[in-house]
Amino acid sequence: MTRTTARIAHLRAAGVSFAVELTGPLPRVLHWGADLGPLTDDDLAALSRTAEGVVLNNAPDSVRQFTVWPTEAENWSGTPAHQGHRSGVATTPRLRLVVAHESAGELVLQLADDVSELDITLGYLLELSGVLSVRTELTRQVLTDGQDATPYDLAGVTTLLPLPARAVEILDFTGKWCRERAPQRGTLAHGSHVREVRRGKPGQDAPHLLTVGVPGFGFRTGEVWGLHVAWSGNQRWLAERSPEGAGVHGAVLGGGESLAPGEIRLAPGESYTAPVCHFVWSDQGLDALADRFHALLRARPQHPVTPRPLTLNTWEAVYFDHRVDRLLALTERAADIGVERLVLDDGWFTGRRDDTAGLGDWAVDPEVWPGGLGPLADRVHGHGMQFGLWVEPEMVNLDSRLATEHPEWILGPSVGLGPSARHQYVLNLAHDDAFAHLLTSLDELVTRYRIDYLKWDHNRDLHEAVGRGPGGQDRPGVHAQTEAAYRLLDALKERHPRLEIESCSSGGARVDLGILARTDRVWASDCNDPVERQSVQRWTGQLLPPELIGTHVGGPRSHTTGRVTDASFRQLTALFGHAGIEDDLTARTPEELTALRRWVALYKAVRALLHSGRVVRADLADDAVLLHGVVAADGGSALYCWARTGTSGDGQSGRTRLPGLDPAARYEIRVRDDAGLPVAHQVSGPAWYTAALDGWVTLPGAVLAGAGVPLPTLAPAQALLFEVRRVQP
Ligand code: DGJ
Repeated sequence: MTRTTARIAHLRAAGVSFAVELTGPLPRVLHWGADLGPLTDDDLAALSRTAEGVVLNNAPDSVRQFTVWPTEAENWSGTPAHQGHRSGVATTPRLRLVVAHESAGELVLQLADDVSELDITLGYLLELSGVLSVRTELTRQVLTDGQDATPYDLAGVTTLLPLPARAVEILDFTGKWCRERAPQRGTLAHGSHVREVRRGKPGQDAPHLLTVGVPGFGFRTGEVWGLHVAWSGNQRWLAERSPEGAGVHGAVLGGGESLAPGEIRLAPGESYTAPVCHFVWSDQGLDALADRFHALLRARPQHPVTPRPLTLNTWEAVYFDHRVDRLLALTERAADIGVERLVLDDGWFTGRRDDTAGLGDWAVDPEVWPGGLGPLADRVHGHGMQFGLWVEPEMVNLDSRLATEHPEWILGPSVGLGPSARHQYVLNLAHDDAFAHLLTSLDELVTRYRIDYLKWDHNRDLHEAVGRGPGGQDRPGVHAQTEAAYRLLDALKERHPRLEIESCSSGGARVDLGILARTDRVWASDCNDPVERQSVQRWTGQLLPPELIGTHVGGPRSHTTGRVTDASFRQLTALFGHAGIEDDLTARTPEELTALRRWVALYKAVRALLHSGRVVRADLADDAVLLHGVVAADGGSALYCWARTGTSGDGQSGRTRLPGLDPAARYEIRVRDDAGLPVAHQVSGPAWYTAALDGWVTLPGAVLAGAGVPLPTLAPAQALLFEVRRVQP
């Protein structure tokens, strides 16, 4: 819903308002946050009248404004909306609004700057989910006679929105291999909290969702503002606060691409498109932010709607030990327990006996697969399962035919390559021949083996990522590489519209809404240890709904942490996502297979709920326990996981509220033991729980969601599944 007076555009959706005053020379942001309601012209005028703070001592003589394109021209001392120069000149842009209009619900502002000779388009789309998506495009003006044709060197573009002074607590994420999306929280003090991502991909330590809120915000409470930069290359995220504020606001949230010097040089007529930045607000904590992102993603036309197939991935089952008989036996076991998609991981292509060789040569290794992949693919398809294959198209080993024949396709300096990482280098996808070669190779593979799914990996950072020019004129190439990778994915999808693709990157190092615009799920982490996974999945889910997050059951002893856990805990942890198995089923006992078969059936029975409902997480004082669940969109049913990762000082949970239920409704609750029951660290009880082990127990929402119920004290590394359904009063 947009209302535009002559001067103020007011966008409203899903409880969110965004108001911009279309004044000259530049529009100013009046408000972003809570829905202000259907404001009249007088109300909007009042919003405008109150949009100026004080003129401070020892400060600019005019009132500070926060515009849609902050620069020093308006006395803005924070990060500017854009920076650059034309061979050392034109560094003081002076923007003006040319025209504002609305197109398909988007507020479009055309700005122009005759100093940097840029025309700028800013598009604000307040989506039905309440997410405010901002796109930005800069075009170098076409020359008139006598003008200087020197390219404009763009140093950076940052999309900025204001935060109120009460937003002083910050949450973002860090991580490393097998520990993705670890939260880090603190105070937003004066200065810049900047996350510069220079890995050529988001990385395991990606900021993921930069959130600022009122002190003490949690999953269910508190006013919060968040930002996601939808881009898979280098990035800049920031929250910035200064003593003088941002116009009438307190601070700013901003994002964009981190550009290398000289990476974007705009000749007359050339354009640069910045990453879309998604801004999100709620006064009901982090769950409500996640809810908005999940709604945004689920509304996409390409969002997967078929039941997410229970997957078996061969990596932890066989690693590089590809033997046809062994993999056929694994396929039989998989079919027997109800697997619906089998993915052949790394190790199938020429020379790939370990991770030192073969990347780039996307032909089946005749030594290990003398009959090609046909016999395996046919067996998989014959069982009615989908067939998936691992690829890592953007990478190359020097020990490969491709690197030998086309060293010029490698993304790296002409004077010599820097150190390898996982023994590999990056292919320059912006090189037309390299791109065409990859597209043809992948296309042929998908066609030949009727591949349903590609696990698309990306196992190193992009360092010294320069495209080789003639005479050693190497140019920074991460931006071009990122765009080319998108083009490659798009082209493959266009040729194979039913092909699904997973974004994997040494686990979860490429999880962003840029890559997800052309892929169908992410591999959250190489760590299948459920103790670690509970946290990885919880925070990956801050952005992505469960159906887009790959969650697999590993073997009893985690391959990455060495921790031994019970099957029930592994299974209940993997249930809350796009579930699968990452284990050698041929090594499992009949009893273990029976348990897995039951869990597979459980997943199939509940995935419709898990993949369409609202994700809820309880705020608990005890860090060693987690209570999370999914509540059906109509509120009629829910599943909850009560998990313990370690021991606690407190013996009792006390009354604990199940989040997301209606305190005014009536419910039945029972324990689902399909995945087995946990080991408890107690003698007995609570009594209601003991009864729920035997069947449905009726409890009012006032108790389940209002007062709360005591929960059993589990032993560490244990979990329990509750099913809830609403009953008529
Ligand atoms: C890294 C991925 O994260 C793993 O799941 C596996 O596919 C390996 N690469 C294969 O090399």
